[in-house]
Amino acid sequence: MNYREMMFLRAVRKNGLVAVLATSPSTPAEVAEETGITERAASISLEALVGLGFLTANDGTYEATDRLRRLHTDDVAEMSSLAFRLDGLERWITLPETMYTNDPVDSPENYTNHYMGAMHDMDEETVRACVTAAVHQHPDAEQVADVGGGPGAFAREFVKQGHEVTLVDRPDVIGLDEQLLDSEPITLVEGDIRESVPGEHDLVFCSRVFQTLSPEENRRILNAAYDALSPGGSVVLIEVVRGRSPDARMFGVTMLAQADSDGNTYTESQYRDWFHDAGFEDVRVTDVPGTKYQTVAGDR
Ligand SMILES: C[S@@+](CC[C@H](N)C(=O)[O-])C[C@H]1O[C@@H](n2cnc3c(N)ncnc32)[C@H](O)[C@@H]1O
Repeated sequence: MNYREMMFLRAVRKNGLVAVLATSPSTPAEVAEETGITERAASISLEALVGLGFLTANDGTYEATDRLRRLHTDDVAEMSSLAFRLDGLERWITLPETMYTNDPVDSPENYTNHYMGAMHDMDEETVRACVTAAVHQHPDAEQVADVGGGPGAFAREFVKQGHEVTLVDRPDVIGLDEQLLDSEPITLVEGDIRESVPGEHDLVFCSRVFQTLSPEENRRILNAAYDALSPGGSVVLIEVVRGRSPDARMFGVTMLAQADSDGNTYTESQYRDWFHDAGFEDVRVTDVPGTKYQTVAGDR
């Protein structure tokens, strides 16, 4: 979506138009009445939302499509990543101020839900390609820990590929996962992966977490991962590696603008230093075919 479309969606979500339409089909006059915006603004907006695929129009009444419902829902499994991207927009607008402080404006309401909804809304081919690439680094692995596993898109794929899976994340995320992954044979564990990774595993997998954290925190996670590996086990990260993935440099800016933590993207040589210092051997960086991601792997 271009910036005008994003700013427009931000406006119609903020003034309640999205919520009204998600609840019932409405005319421009009804939308104006319910939200307090002008009737002109309502009719222009409704037509634009038809053009963007969020509404259909029939005889002057406008009805939500799935695209609008997926923007408005609280259900993490159904939500589109757009809800989180619109939250992020507030933080991009205030990026000039953040550059003085490193602290983005306060998180919006439902932030964890929207964050996890966005992480969950990843295309299946990419998830499969990343998990397949990770397994390729340690083909004999049985026990897998998905650390910072979020809503479990990758953990589910490990299960499909025949592994025993433990997912470790922060308590608020594990709270969501208890419902989201209810029917999956995945062990859920609350924890701070900078401190320790519970259990013993053949493969410690960690996707898109290092980019959200500082070098010091990432070194701590690698130390904890090392301690949690069985002898000969491997750690595999999924990241966009700077100098290798075309997205990585601008993703560093995304972390500056949007992340509550001290994230950035890192180079292959930084990863190699951290892995060696944590005791890992045979450190290797490979591209995940068909994606913008790399695996960074090492063995205990
Ligand atoms: C960008 S999300 C990635 C989620 C998932 N791995 C994926 O790729 O879709 C980062 C995840 O790391 C988790 N995380 C970050 N720091 C953590 C910490 N210190 N301990 C446990 N989990 C952490 C966050 O809660 C979040 O679920």
